[in-house]
Amino acid sequence: METVLRDNIDWVGHVDWTLRDFHSYQTDRGVTYNAYLIRDEKTALIDTVKAPFADDLLTRVAALTPLERVDYVICNHAEPDHAGGLSTVLKALPKATLVGAAKAMPTLARYHDTSRWKTRAVSTGDEIRLGRRTLRFIETPMVHWPESMFTYVPEDELLFSMDAFGQHYASSQRFDDQAPLCILMDEAKTYYANIIMPYARQVAATLETVAGLRINMIAPSHGVVWRRFVREIIGCYQNWVQCRPKPKVLVLYDSMWENTGRMAAAIHEGASKPGVAAHLIHIRRSNLTRIAAEVLDAAAVAVGSSTLNQGMMPMMGAVLTYLKGLRPANKAGLAFGAYGWSKGGPETVEAAIKAMKWELLREMIAVPYSPDASTLAECREAGARLADHALRVAAGRKAGENLCVDP
Ligand code: FEO
Repeated sequence: METVLRDNIDWVGHVDWTLRDFHSYQTDRGVTYNAYLIRDEKTALIDTVKAPFADDLLTRVAALTPLERVDYVICNHAEPDHAGGLSTVLKALPKATLVGAAKAMPTLARYHDTSRWKTRAVSTGDEIRLGRRTLRFIETPMVHWPESMFTYVPEDELLFSMDAFGQHYASSQRFDDQAPLCILMDEAKTYYANIIMPYARQVAATLETVAGLRINMIAPSHGVVWRRFVREIIGCYQNWVQCRPKPKVLVLYDSMWENTGRMAAAIHEGASKPGVAAHLIHIRRSNLTRIAAEVLDAAAVAVGSSTLNQGMMPMMGAVLTYLKGLRPANKAGLAFGAYGWSKGGPETVEAAIKAMKWELLREMIAVPYSPDASTLAECREAGARLADHALRVAAGRKAGENLCVDP
């Protein structure tokens, strides 16, 4: 496995091939926890790994330098997938000073006994000279915790970006030009949708900061290192922070006796116009992680549920609760569904759509028991309207934004 980013800058993390559930994020392709070692007159370890893999990291570090020569451990992010190994790692590195944003220190003290740690709090613009190389720190609050920060090495134009630009992707390749690009971009998009999307405003501010840096390599804390597609992944983030819609209509539904399912199929049929990507998802045959990624770049989302216990189906409740937390913006919505002797399914879906502040292009379509031919025609017409909306808003998408790799 190629692990050398630059002369004397090496990847020393852990590839977790078997993890499939990362705090409810379904990681079908596993996970990596990236850490990097910079050897200069001073030696710095950038981030650590999840606690069970700390010894693996130390073995990789020891293969490159004596552990007693490590001067700094940089904590770009205090979440346990990157800082969980700190107690073990700092015990093994007798000389090391823990460096992080001021807000990282009380957070770390809740997870670890930090009383014997040597620590140094840094702010945006602070630098540590290693010798030939410099570490420059950039606070990036809420990307994706309050204490998050980037570490930039100007001499190499190298950005250690912790969660930002990451992907949950276990691979024996460490670089973007060694991995299948479509899979990589899909995982980067899925990661953004499920982890970063709620903090779009803060990410946008971070991107402005990044725009002022010369960058030819981005080393995130998850997945591969970007060295060939740096401009492209930044371009994708510029689209994603705005939830900039594609000409895409998404139909999400759950159905008890396939009546809402027939309505969903009719909406999907109506939305399937030339130039429009119309996707149909039965939510219990998909998962929250995939659904969030599908919603990110959709221009319009039709959401249908049968009625159960005077409300929506329970999994649809989970989907809409999850989406509400992720705050996907710039969507048009439509609620639909069937009901029996009592109403409630489509009504509660529509209330959830309104709570997300999505634009409603028309009133909901609610039908007793089973849709007849005229209701199905109404569904097709509604789907066509969503497609027209998608084509209209996607036309405002800026040209030259790396659409070829923006999944
Ligand atoms: Fe990969 Fe926010 O931790």
